[in-house]
Amino acid sequence: MAKNGSKVKRVAILTGGGDCPGLNAVIRGVAKPAHDHGLTVLGIIDGFEGLVEGKAKQLYNKDVSGILAVGGTILGSSNKGDPFHWPEQDINGEIKIMNRSKDALKHYEGWDLDALIAIGGDGTMHISKKLSDMGMNIVGVPKTIDNDLDATDLTFGHDSAVYVVTEAIDRLHTTASSHHRVMVIEVMGRYAGWIALSGGLAGGADIILIPEIPFDWEAIYDKVIQRNMMGKRFSIVCVAEGAKPLNGEMVVKAKDIKRTDPVQLGGIGELVAKNISENTGLETRYTVLGHLQRGGSPTPFDRILSTKFGTAAIDLVIKKKFGRMVALKGTEIKSVKIEEAISKQKLVTPDDHALKAAVAVGISFGTEKL
Ligand code: F6P
Repeated sequence: MAKNGSKVKRVAILTGGGDCPGLNAVIRGVAKPAHDHGLTVLGIIDGFEGLVEGKAKQLYNKDVSGILAVGGTILGSSNKGDPFHWPEQDINGEIKIMNRSKDALKHYEGWDLDALIAIGGDGTMHISKKLSDMGMNIVGVPKTIDNDLDATDLTFGHDSAVYVVTEAIDRLHTTASSHHRVMVIEVMGRYAGWIALSGGLAGGADIILIPEIPFDWEAIYDKVIQRNMMGKRFSIVCVAEGAKPLNGEMVVKAKDIKRTDPVQLGGIGELVAKNISENTGLETRYTVLGHLQRGGSPTPFDRILSTKFGTAAIDLVIKKKFGRMVALKGTEIKSVKIEEAISKQKLVTPDDHALKAAVAVGISFGTEKL
């Protein structure tokens, strides 16, 4: 490890949690300047899993060349590799949760690392904070299509996901209009409605349902019927996977105790479609966009943001400003303490400009109260 006063020589990168477009652009943004500064760069395989199990490889310039526009991550990722919540199967086949953080520290020290750049979302930043407290020098880079980290105006990957949602809604519009149907599209976002709000607004959805605004079934039925009566014989409903009815619960598809957050959301789109069809008599179909939102090439915006984040992260490492996460504030790239990054989830608030704009152009949020 770099002693006080000595220069940083060896840095590792890992990509944690669910993947998203722009991860490779960050890796490239870290590694290229790092090499120019004479640093050795290690890529840890499969997120924190590789740190616990000691799987890493050296990254050379040739490894990070030509990956700017490539989706996914050349390092692999995992959302089951939390060193503090490590699932292990015992001889009876039962899953036991172990703390393997000492193994993570052992490999960090064994690889003689001066710093670790952890690219990830909320979960990755929580783990990074705990590993920082154990003595690792960590710099975080905020990633997630969900855009739910409060300490940064945007996470990379979000814009690409919104692009996919927008394109999908555009396509649904034409078929909805031809067949005079209600089309429900379920999008990701976990407990935050950013993808549904931005994608729905950009795609011109008629109804957007988000977790932050529990919806009233009657308001949804009224809206589609009203549109029909006005001669608009189709409707588009963009529903976030975490949306829930008033006095109701989110729809949980499965639970996986191997993950720090065991909940897998999914199914609200189907339920909304079924209820609209049964209560209005209108022909209704649903589409679940799923992992299409996380795959493929990053948008130009995400390529640029990822490159800015990556280069800013290695800059922090070289300056030995550890325990921080790079963040977008307005148009500038700044950094915040990792604990600040995990202190609050960023959710859609009533004063959000996109929300207000959506209401102003007549989009319903399934409630009369906005
Ligand atoms: O956090 C990103 C995200 O895509 C969420 O929007 C979604 O709920 C979840 O990950 C899906 O996770 P998995 O890939 O494990 O199904």
